[in-house]
Amino acid sequence: MFRRTKSVVGLDLGHQAVKAVEISMEGSEPVITGFACAEIAPGADRAEAIAKVFQQGKFKSKTVVTSVSGQAVVVRYITMMQMTDAELRQAIRFESDKYLPFEADEVQIDCQRLMRKPHAPSEGAAAGGEQMSVVIAACKKSAVEERVQEIVRHGLSLLAVDVDVFALANAWELCGLSEVAGEAGGERAIALVDVGASVTSINVLCGGETCFSREIGIGGADMTQAIARRLGVEAAESEALKRDPQGREAEISRAITPVLEDMVSELTLSLDYVENREGLRVEEILLSGGGVLAPGTVSFLEQATGRTTRTWNPLEGLRVAESRVNVQEMEACAPSLAVAIGLASRVCAQ
Ligand SMILES: Nc1ncnc2c1ncn2[C@@H]1O[C@H](COP(=O)(O)OP(=O)(O)OP(=O)(O)O)[C@@H](O)[C@H]1O
Ligand SMILES: [Mg+2]
Repeated sequence: MFRRTKSVVGLDLGHQAVKAVEISMEGSEPVITGFACAEIAPGADRAEAIAKVFQQGKFKSKTVVTSVSGQAVVVRYITMMQMTDAELRQAIRFESDKYLPFEADEVQIDCQRLMRKPHAPSEGAAAGGEQMSVVIAACKKSAVEERVQEIVRHGLSLLAVDVDVFALANAWELCGLSEVAGEAGGERAIALVDVGASVTSINVLCGGETCFSREIGIGGADMTQAIARRLGVEAAESEALKRDPQGREAEISRAITPVLEDMVSELTLSLDYVENREGLRVEEILLSGGGVLAPGTVSFLEQATGRTTRTWNPLEGLRVAESRVNVQEMEACAPSLAVAIGLASRVCAQ
């Protein structure tokens, strides 16, 4: 008789900006019911930005999903013999040192079988045996604990700690865009690439399912540094020029070219690897993250990778409660919201 409204705040603790998006279930429809974003001033504490976000965003809920990324997280895609989920968990637990560069007791491990069958048999696999693809994610317990402390300190409760690269794929799925991609051809492969301030996250989806992910330690902050060096200006001016070039687009584009070249060489290494391993072609690159807003970035990536490249808006297809959200402000930073939306999408599974 009563429609229960459930809400979750996806909290993306980025290197340069804290982004929070609240999604509520209205019946079976996810609706954006809150948004706030706060930049972390150079040298400032991230806690201030988190506090600001929760003062500004008119969130209904104090239930948060956040994420971890960087060196504390390792994700591996492996081929194993067919087994049950229970057997898989046990195998990963006992053989974790085979796949992960961490001691088993210092990490939180999760694993899942993938729908997609392995393209090539695993090394040493018995001939003729059925194989399956598995993704393993491990995160240092100390990094998870750090996140928990960061959240509870603000009087919030933590529903889950996710991984940035998976949140990206969840945002993509929530927009309903994955279905369109799937319908166009079952095995269509695309790459979601989120260019943040310090990290660029890559997630390759095949038929809507993640088959590869990786993080590259290059992002918008490197572009800001390159502009500062080339134009001989301070970091703050360089950051301002990158956002509003004041007629100096060509100069700024040239300054960031070496950063984009490094990014492309890492990106194409990854795409070549996954194409070779999975026997497919990654047809399209979908860009998100604040870093893609720098002048000339999208066209450079398109030209240099030789693949159709465009920015995707993670708000596309989602209803927004306009009485609660400053839509104009949210649209202005839409590309940076992919991870936060992916994190909040957990509400659908509640
Ligand atoms: N309008 C703009 N034009 C150019 N660059 C921009 C613009 N807005 C933001 N950026 C850049 O985007 C980056 C921040 O994007 P984002 O919020 O996605 O990163 P983050 O999540 O904080 O970082 P990370 O993902 O590395 O932890 C910064 O490098 C910033 O300079
Ligand atoms: Mg980010």
